[in-house]
Amino acid sequence: MSLDVPALPDPASADALRSDLAEWTVDAVEAVVGERAARALGREQVLPARMAARASSTAQATLTRLFLLGDTVSTRDLDAALPATGADGGTRLGLVETSGGEVRARVDLRPYSAVDADGEARWWVASDQGEAVTGQRLRDDHVLGIGGASLTLAGMTMRAPVGRVLDLGTGCGIQALHASLHADSVVATDISRRALAYAAFNQALNAAAGWDLREGSMLEPVAGEEFDLVVSNPPFVITPPDAPSFEYRDGGQQGDGIVSSLVSSVGSVLAPGGVAQMLGNWEIHGDSWSEGLEAWLEASASAGRPLDAWVIERDELDAAEYAETWLRDAGVTPERGRAAFERAYAAYLADFDARGVRAVGFGMVLLRRPVSGTPMLRRLEQHEGALQEPFGGYLVSALAAHDRVSALSDEALLDTAWTAAPDVTRESYGPVLQADPQYILLRQGAGLGRSVSMDTALAGFVGACDGELTAGQIAHALAALLDVPAGTMLAGLVPAIRELAADGFLA
Ligand SMILES: C[S@@+](CC[C@H](N)C(=O)[O-])C[C@H]1O[C@@H](n2cnc3c(N)ncnc32)[C@H](O)[C@@H]1O
Repeated sequence: MSLDVPALPDPASADALRSDLAEWTVDAVEAVVGERAARALGREQVLPARMAARASSTAQATLTRLFLLGDTVSTRDLDAALPATGADGGTRLGLVETSGGEVRARVDLRPYSAVDADGEARWWVASDQGEAVTGQRLRDDHVLGIGGASLTLAGMTMRAPVGRVLDLGTGCGIQALHASLHADSVVATDISRRALAYAAFNQALNAAAGWDLREGSMLEPVAGEEFDLVVSNPPFVITPPDAPSFEYRDGGQQGDGIVSSLVSSVGSVLAPGGVAQMLGNWEIHGDSWSEGLEAWLEASASAGRPLDAWVIERDELDAAEYAETWLRDAGVTPERGRAAFERAYAAYLADFDARGVRAVGFGMVLLRRPVSGTPMLRRLEQHEGALQEPFGGYLVSALAAHDRVSALSDEALLDTAWTAAPDVTRESYGPVLQADPQYILLRQGAGLGRSVSMDTALAGFVGACDGELTAGQIAHALAALLDVPAGTMLAGLVPAIRELAADGFLA
């Protein structure tokens, strides 16, 4: 059975296509379409970009029209834009189809770039064409291109040099491409053979080394193996039986079963110290948003895999908002057919109500198999505000700070000369006529932009953290100044210093 996916059968055709595309970069596309059309593309509107690109006759404009905007171009123009591959070669590879001197793309192909410590990596990524371009409902086995969630996961992934990486649910292979910049080897899995064929195409096109592509569901293809990093943007969209479903977003389990099974079982493939980073949705049944996640973490621990966990919930939608969001994403709208829309909408609400779902949370999950075997980190928090970009860099330093502080005894903590981090500012509030402020806040500029409220002693302590005096010296001076027994002052300050240091307020 044909997978209907382009293929690069030999290194020579991959080399030829790569050299043809060399000048077609992210910047080149922006130069062709202009800022207004680039913003419109972000809203899934292709018309302004098509109009702008048609006004230009460069090779970059031809490639942008054809592969990104679903426009037809002439065979002659494509021969000029792909001098080594040509329109005939593009047809043989399954990238385009020609008819009467006109060429139409069979896939979405676009430049993509990533910046890391070694500079900018430039790639080209093929996937199925989206609805904005074709105007058609997506096929059930649609292979997704680079979307918002892909970029969120790529941005939050910790990019330290690493040994073995697993990209679970690789799709077009975007996370595997990123991983190949800092991993010794990458195993990329998917349940979809079409997705794996696209990943193989993108691997060959970008000459990405060391990938092992495997077909299978969830952890099945890697059972018994261990990885230093697992990344997954899994098919986490909760989908009731009577609503439209797509392989790329719905893992076929009831409710949030896909994310629950991943959180509770991913520890089985983590090497000691190994980290899993994933995105997910979770159902919220009672008052506590994190009850479900806590239960999944307990399930992992009960199965002999206790894990460090840091979960950041970024958003919460009630059942109706959730249904509307994912129906719109599926192209099911009242304008296109009120009866079908209402049937699917009702299916969502009935499914959520039957299981007592109050809301659905969305966020990022970081799990780590502790080297010592004993988890030291359990942080489940809500944060809707902006995140520092790239967030992965912040996570690397935040985890390192957490580990350093956890390993310090109280004595060592008090023996350290701490410095207030440069991004931290102090704010105080109170009635105008009152000499002492009522509230003193410490606010972090970087990371999650956390703020903590402080009492007078803690504010005095942080104000004296200039790297000269140890914490113990400052604490004793404060005890004398505020006329408080030294033991009481230390007992109050030590846990607070621990928390501030772990959160990066103190370095
Ligand atoms: C949301 S897409 C993510 C694609 C890509 N990793 C990214 O970050 O954009 C989810 C992928 O998971 C795959 N998938 C669906 N069900 C799966 C399963 N049970 N096991 C493994 N992969 C699955 C889909 O085919 C799809 O490629």
